[in-house]
Amino acid sequence: MKNFTSVDDIQDLNELVSLAKAIKAEPFANAGLGKNKTLGLLFFNPSLRTRLSTQKAALNLGMHAIVMNLNTEGWLLEFEDGVVMDGNKAEHIKEAAQVVSQYCDIIAVRSFPTLTDKEKDEEEQVINAFKKYASVPVISLEGSTEHPLQAVADALTVEEYKTVARPKVVLTWAPHPKALPHAVPNSFVKVMKKANVDFVITHPEGYELNPEFTAGVTITHNQDEAFKDADFIYAKNWSSYIDYGQITSKDPSWTVTTEKMALTSNGKFMHCLPVRRNMIVTDAVLDSGASIVIPQANNRTYAAQAILTKILEDGK
Ligand code: CP
Repeated sequence: MKNFTSVDDIQDLNELVSLAKAIKAEPFANAGLGKNKTLGLLFFNPSLRTRLSTQKAALNLGMHAIVMNLNTEGWLLEFEDGVVMDGNKAEHIKEAAQVVSQYCDIIAVRSFPTLTDKEKDEEEQVINAFKKYASVPVISLEGSTEHPLQAVADALTVEEYKTVARPKVVLTWAPHPKALPHAVPNSFVKVMKKANVDFVITHPEGYELNPEFTAGVTITHNQDEAFKDADFIYAKNWSSYIDYGQITSKDPSWTVTTEKMALTSNGKFMHCLPVRRNMIVTDAVLDSGASIVIPQANNRTYAAQAILTKILEDGK
């Protein structure tokens, strides 16, 4: 594996999930693989899980991890080519990516979408600029359109908690007070399409995701119907894709409740976190035995460690 910026970079999901499982069983088995190697984590946006779990994964492999919050601590970066840099942007990505490549063996980047400029967001301008100008592998810590490390952790969690060979997995939209990106649902859709699951998406009308991601997936606007006999409920808010970046509904009837979970087949509740209690999901569900959000977050470490392992082994 050269870069990991999309679920499309996974060649064999079963093999990757098996590797993550093996790493989870023995996290320090390959503690020499990253000796004298450095992972640089560059954040344009906040994080708890992605930052700490990826650092932890690097440490488990014997790597050094250095972190920078570029939005608050670095020079403002210019990503457009050929511009006169007479504004507030002090450094061009061309220099920045090449310089960081001299300090790091792998560069990992988080850069959220604008949610105002659909075209620019879909270009993945920041992550692709790092891929273009860096001379070392690049990992996405969540880009404008995908969160692939989250998706690997989600696939591992479904694999661990499934009780039937082909579980029913439901991705449900749920209300939220702020406009949120599409990266998590997009990558979850991609990874579930690769997994052996019966996959259904449910959301209110007007919340269709980019059809390039959802092609071939069953989609319903009837949440109760979708929940019937489900083994996993994966809740997530996203802003409208059609009315790009807008909130067109905060309908509380889409909040995941105990009554809705009762429609499932003893279903497990998943969410990538952070989660807004009593908006996305009620306290009763989140604090119940059905919720697996904490072990799901734990799997972020082993997902990241599996990806780092594959990149380091490829570079040997
Ligand atoms: N799920 C996730 O990416 O969490 P953070 O935003 O805290 O990293």
